Amino acid sequence: MPALDLATRLSAAETLARDAGARARAFQSDGVTAVLKADSSLVTEADGAVEAFLRDSLGAAFPDDGFLGEETGGAVEGPTWIIDPIDGTSNFAAGRPFWCVSIGLYVDGAPALGVVFDPLRDELFHGLGLARPMLNGVQLPPIAPRRLGPGVCVGFGVQERGPGRPALALLGGLADAGASVRNLGSGALTLTYVAAGRIDGYFENGVKLWDAAGALALIRGAGLPYVSVFDLANPGAPAPVLAAAPGLFDEIAARRDAQQA
Ligand code: IPD
Repeated sequence: MPALDLATRLSAAETLARDAGARARAFQSDGVTAVLKADSSLVTEADGAVEAFLRDSLGAAFPDDGFLGEETGGAVEGPTWIIDPIDGTSNFAAGRPFWCVSIGLYVDGAPALGVVFDPLRDELFHGLGLARPMLNGVQLPPIAPRRLGPGVCVGFGVQERGPGRPALALLGGLADAGASVRNLGSGALTLTYVAAGRIDGYFENGVKLWDAAGALALIRGAGLPYVSVFDLANPGAPAPVLAAAPGLFDEIAARRDAQQA
């Protein structure tokens, strides 16, 4: 079997991400209406239209690759494109300027390439294999180790609605230790910022695979420690994700483990 042509796939994903971002912005300038999905997250007509565009375009270019998307589902079988057409839909719908298009490709169960495009800042991030990720064609700098304390910034997402809210308890401990904590409303873009060194870590207990797939390729390329506990046979199931600068990762993971013990 010939090796998968990742360079061609990366180039296509970059072109499509830019096109998808322009399409999403066109919807936004016309005004979008958000409705609640069964899982209580928001969706707009732009999410469906942008995902259909990506699904059709990738299917035409790479008919043997699998596809999984936030709005239309799918399965992870063989090399699979994993798409979130608009990550940060709540921000997008309300006009808060922090959302992105996320395109990942999983090969052999791991993130092999990822493209995350922020159309509002014209920032296109990509990761390919173990190479250091790039921003608009320029390699991002290496990430230095960090220690928990003042000056450290940790991003998070919170889905839990049940008693205890473990993520919030963990966050409280990080804040007590001097870190600033941020929920920016787009897990994909915040994880991307970890790979870019703009924020030091990210965790969320209930991430969906399509939220994280693109950005995890960047995290992997940046050589950062991460855990993602996805069941690829059940890709719509939420799972924990933690990624952070070296050193800080161990400190957050130890606190989370102690909490779960
Ligand atoms: C959501 C965002 C949010 C995160 C949620 C995601 P969506 O994605 O990334 O920051 O906390 O877990 O579902 O619904 O805007 O694509």
